[in-house]
Amino acid sequence: MLDASKIRADFPILSRQVNNKPLVYFDNAATSQTPQAVIDSIVDYYSNYNANIHRGVHRLSQEATDKYEMARQKIQAHFNAKHTHEIIFTSGTTHSINLVANGFTSLLEKGDEIIVSALEHHSNIVPWQMLCERTGAILKVIPMNIEGDLEMDAYDMLLSNKTKLVFVNHISNALGTINPIEYIIEKAHEVGAAVLIDGAQACPHVKPDVQALDVDFYVASAHKMCGPTGVGMLYGKEEWLKKLPPYQGGGEMIAEVTFEKTTYADLPHKFEAGTPNICGGIAFGAALDYMNNIGFDNIATYENELLTYATEQLENIEGLKIYGTAKHKTSVISFNLEGIHPYDVGTILDKLGIAVRTGHHCAQPIMDFYCIPGTVRASFAFYNSKAEIDVLVAGIKKAKMMLS
Ligand code: ALA
Repeated sequence: MLDASKIRADFPILSRQVNNKPLVYFDNAATSQTPQAVIDSIVDYYSNYNANIHRGVHRLSQEATDKYEMARQKIQAHFNAKHTHEIIFTSGTTHSINLVANGFTSLLEKGDEIIVSALEHHSNIVPWQMLCERTGAILKVIPMNIEGDLEMDAYDMLLSNKTKLVFVNHISNALGTINPIEYIIEKAHEVGAAVLIDGAQACPHVKPDVQALDVDFYVASAHKMCGPTGVGMLYGKEEWLKKLPPYQGGGEMIAEVTFEKTTYADLPHKFEAGTPNICGGIAFGAALDYMNNIGFDNIATYENELLTYATEQLENIEGLKIYGTAKHKTSVISFNLEGIHPYDVGTILDKLGIAVRTGHHCAQPIMDFYCIPGTVRASFAFYNSKAEIDVLVAGIKKAKMMLS
């Protein structure tokens, strides 16, 4: 059982004040907060063994290389990848998606089809549109319904032997819907298409098993799961990573360079040109240790309690409409107050020390679907509490009174 009051003590930022009020941090879907153990790993790196990796014979370089590669192993174990070299360090989910999209340029032909979903973040739309422009492939979209669920019947109809790739997020960042990725992967494989799952919003809440899912690519960012910004991962099945060409050229990713011809390094280094975010990678590993220590089952149970409690409280506020009411959803509530712009609500909540995100959440097609400019989004993590939800509810009521 998870004890949030004890856990909160691990996060120094949670005891700060904003506008003379205790911080209530409900913008976890944008970025999570950082526990002391992860902060310590960053300080330890720069205090004790800051060096470039895979290059030096000297002690510091060896220590940094060992710790960085150990972090890769932690990521492999966490996601249950078959091989360590199937884990590529990237700067984050967006980088991971672009790496794959770029790689498919030489593997697609005019008229091939790519399927994305109506629930995608812009980072899982734009790179595929760019890929279509480069190759003449056609982008198809799985529609959503009013609850914020994807229409699986429509998905079945979109699939054909022209489908080469399917890209769907595991959990919607704007609405919190948990998508049926097992079904999506299975059906895509029946027509021979590869599947990439954007796990940016899922990984703070669940522990994906890439082998059980039989997914071809799975991508995530450290900063959504208690790690630092600027580092993330791409899991790719070995056979796919071997097939894809390198994304960037440079140091680290080569076997041999002459002016006539360059040969590339083996996996994973083929995709890791240049000096990486060494400290970030190591801190990513520390973040996984921290979260696994708490336990993802405990996290899911507790966050579900928060979601249920908050949904009940918010539904009682007259004129408040929640967007995204899927049966399977995670701890994200997107809402609006009737006749009031989300930005104005967010500004008043900030004055009260409450951090929420307002706007289209990098998912404009979802906002277009609901015919709204954006929403206020409160997203909860395992270190939040019901008492903080009460503060949010009181804040929303105050904002409603001031703005109506
Ligand atoms: N993708 C992040 C969010 O949903 C930034 O807020």
